[in-house]
Amino acid sequence: MEVSSSNLLQIAKEFGTPLYVYDASIISQQYLNLKNAFNSTKVKFFYASKALTNIHVLQHIKQIGCNIDCSSINEVQLALHVGFSPSQILYTSNSIDFEEIVMAKNVGVHINIDSISNLQKFGKAFGNSYPLGLRLRPNIMAGGNIKISTGHDKSKFGIPVNQINEVLQIVKSYDINISNLHIHTGSEVKDVAVWMKSIDILFELVPHFTNLKSIDLGGGFKVPYMPNEVGTDISLLAKEVLQAFDDNEATKHLEIWFEPGKYLVSKAGYFLTKVNVLKETQAACFAGVDSGFNHLIRPMFYEAYHEITNLSNTTNNFTSYAVVGNICETDTFAWDRPIATITEGDILCFDNAGAYGFEMSSNFNSRYKPAEVLIINNKPKLIRRREVFEDLLHTQLPL
Ligand code: LLP
Repeated sequence: MEVSSSNLLQIAKEFGTPLYVYDASIISQQYLNLKNAFNSTKVKFFYASKALTNIHVLQHIKQIGCNIDCSSINEVQLALHVGFSPSQILYTSNSIDFEEIVMAKNVGVHINIDSISNLQKFGKAFGNSYPLGLRLRPNIMAGGNIKISTGHDKSKFGIPVNQINEVLQIVKSYDINISNLHIHTGSEVKDVAVWMKSIDILFELVPHFTNLKSIDLGGGFKVPYMPNEVGTDISLLAKEVLQAFDDNEATKHLEIWFEPGKYLVSKAGYFLTKVNVLKETQAACFAGVDSGFNHLIRPMFYEAYHEITNLSNTTNNFTSYAVVGNICETDTFAWDRPIATITEGDILCFDNAGAYGFEMSSNFNSRYKPAEVLIINNKPKLIRRREVFEDLLHTQLPL
């Protein structure tokens, strides 16, 4: 089901705003799209949970049969809490203390290591006793904008592929059991050719690693944010990737892993806000909502576009607005945006807000974070209560 405007309006009335609403059936549908496109038992998907970690969403992800990718030991703990088994959990992190890798090893999850320094420490501590993945940096520029591009030659992520000789030396000297090779080039990667370039780079390295079980091609499938925008062609990606693996004797038997975040949850999320104030000025008509970059930072941080609709006015009378927040910073969600004419008190809906929305929120200006609702089995269920004043004091020691 795709939720209707009137349903969302009803949900806003029932649970208040600001509010994130997720539709579980869209997450299921997106997962099914991937499964059907690849249609191969060799292919495994690990949901990049950094996009959205509410445990009810994680539970749904588990129930539909998807694995999980974690970027911190706490995400690993959340996944275990929800009931994922260690073999369903992948841990891909960067710039971390070696202790965190030891913790991940102790719970038995798959690990992708991201630096020569930690590879060396791992070899020294554990030799070949635990299978390990290597995150490589391919020196490919890809992704929706520079902040979300992770594979280029100035990126902090992964071990630069030109340092492979050093890697091989360490692997050899400690007899490390490399079971997985990983590349993630960035988020919002539209062009299938980017994954094929990563494959070329990885395939050249395959003969060096005799214990290899899988190749991990990361996440980053582009989802359309703007009307008429096109996402990654998943069928084409599936066809080309499967073909490449099958055509090569050395890779035929390998599992193929992906780590989609946005693709699974972005479209499933709506962010609902209330217009507090309309302010007519020479420059713009400002619609000031009960939110800001403390709740949805993507427009300010990446200049990301989110479609905005006025749920309270279903007519076709459009007016142009600057949609802004209520925090003490310039927090412009949209400028010069045609929206069905707004009256104070109207509810605005930001689409495609499931990924990196709530997850990147904060208590800036001592404002509460939004509550969260999951529509599951056609019923809205509160999955994170609205904060109260005590929550702001919760971790502070008493005066
Ligand atoms: N795998 C790794 C190793 C990653 O670093 C990421 C995202 C993913 C998978 C999932 O990428 P996705 O499928 O979600 O594009 N906050 C930004 C996106 C940052 C992504 C960071 N890493 C945004 O809101 O656009």
